[in-house]
Amino acid sequence: MTTTANSDRHRAPATQTDFPHFTFKNGELHCEDVPASRIAEQFGTSAYVYSKRALEGNLRALTEAFSPVNPLICFSVKCLNNIHVLRLLADQGCGMDIVSGGELFRALRAGVDPARIVYAGVGKMAKEINEALAAGVGWINVESAQELALLAQLSQARAQPVNCALRINPDMSDSQTHQKTFTASADTKFGIDMAELTALAVQYKNHPFVRLRGLHFHLGSPIYAPELYGQAIGKLLGLVETFAEHGVRIDTLDIGGGFCAVYGDEKLPSIESFAAVALPLLRPFAERGGQIILEPGRSIAATAGVLLSKVLYTKRCGSRQFAVLDAGMSHLIRPALYDAFHFIWPTRPCGARLPQNFANEPNGESLVKYDVVGPICETGDLFARDRWLPPVEHGELIAFFSCGAYGMTMASHYNAVGNPVEVLVDESECRLIRRREQYADLVRQEELS
Ligand code: LLP
Repeated sequence: MTTTANSDRHRAPATQTDFPHFTFKNGELHCEDVPASRIAEQFGTSAYVYSKRALEGNLRALTEAFSPVNPLICFSVKCLNNIHVLRLLADQGCGMDIVSGGELFRALRAGVDPARIVYAGVGKMAKEINEALAAGVGWINVESAQELALLAQLSQARAQPVNCALRINPDMSDSQTHQKTFTASADTKFGIDMAELTALAVQYKNHPFVRLRGLHFHLGSPIYAPELYGQAIGKLLGLVETFAEHGVRIDTLDIGGGFCAVYGDEKLPSIESFAAVALPLLRPFAERGGQIILEPGRSIAATAGVLLSKVLYTKRCGSRQFAVLDAGMSHLIRPALYDAFHFIWPTRPCGARLPQNFANEPNGESLVKYDVVGPICETGDLFARDRWLPPVEHGELIAFFSCGAYGMTMASHYNAVGNPVEVLVDESECRLIRRREQYADLVRQEELS
C-alpha cells in the first residue's frame, strides 16, 4: 500500500507532549526558554529554529531503545546538515551517514571522527570515493557491482584497505509510505539485487584491499511499520549464513534509518516498538561480537525544529481566504513535493486555545479557514489548504512544527529568494548558526572575472 504523507491517517490528533521543547508559555510559543518573538526580532524571518535539548533527547531515546545491541548511531546528514548541529551530535557520540562528497566535507568540518562515518548512495563518483578513502571513512556501503569494481580499483591504487558493506535491495512491497521516499522495492534504484549478492561476496572475498564485512539496508523514510524491519533483518541474517557457507564472514549489520516522527499523528509506533521488533533478531548477532549500525535522521531531527515565518498579507480570492507568508516552497518543500502535513499555528494564538487536534479542527473557537501559501510564483507553493487558524494579520509570526528534518537541507533558491537563517537554542540562549543570505550571495558563483 502506498499512501501520501498527507493522508487521513496522518491527520489524527497529536498532543503537545510530542513537542516538549516547543511549548506555549505566557501566551507565546517558546523554543526551550526563548520566546519566538525574540528570535524573530534578533534574526528575522524566515528562520529554522532548533532545540538542542530536543535533538539530544531524541538521540537519547534511540540510544536507550537499542542499547541491548549497543549500536553505532550514524546521524543521517541529509536531513539536517548544519555543521553546528553535526558537531553537537558528534559530541554526543554520533557517527554520520553521508551520501556525497559534500556531506563528507560537512561532517569533517564539524569534527566528526571519520571512522564513524558510513557512506551510501547509488551514484558515488570516483572523485568522491577517493575523498572518502583519503579521509578514512569507516564504511562504504556499496550499491552496485560496478561501484564495487571501482572501489576495488581505487583502494588498490592507493594500497588502502577499506571496510565495505553491500547495500541489499530487500525487494519489499508493502511500504505504507510515500512512493517517492520508499527505497526497498525491487523496482527502485537502491541497493543490490538479492540474487547477485552471494556471487559478488565470493568474487571479492580475497581482495587485498576491499574488506567485505558488512551488510546494509535502508527501507525508506518515514517507515510506519516496525515489522518491515523484522522482515528485512531476516533477509540480512539469511545472507550472513549463506555468505559464511562460502567463507565470507560478515561482522557488521547496518539497518539504515527511516523511523517515523510526529507530524500530526499521535498513533505512530514509538522508537521502542521498532526496537522491540529488531532487537530479538539482532541480539544473537551482537552477542557473537557483531556490530550494529543505525542511520536515523528524521527521528532525531524532525521534532527538534520549527520554521518561523511571518504573515505578509491576507486576502480573499473567490471563496478562499489566503494567508501569504514570507516562507515559501523554496524554504520548505515537503508539502509541495510530498503533500506532507505540518502542524501550523501562530506563535501568539490570539486567545485561541491550542487545538486538541493538530489537524486544527475548530474546538468551538472562532477560527478562520485559510489557504496558507508562500510568495513563490507557483500555485503549488501551498503549505496547507483549508487550515483552521486563529484570525491572523500582517506581521503575525507563524510556526511550522516538525521541520527539523528535510527542511533547510531541501531549500532552494527558486525565484532568487534567499534561504532562511538557522538558529540553535540552548535553554535561554539562542545563537545564529547560519547567516541570512544577501543578494550578492545569490550571484557569487556566476561572477567569473
Ligand atoms: N540512510 C539512508 C541510506 C537514507 O537514504 C536515508 C534517507 C536515511 C538513512 C535517513 O532516513 P530517516 O531516518 O531520516 O528517515 N526528503 C524526504 C525524506 C528522504 C529520505 C532519504 N533518505 C522527506 O522530506 O520526507
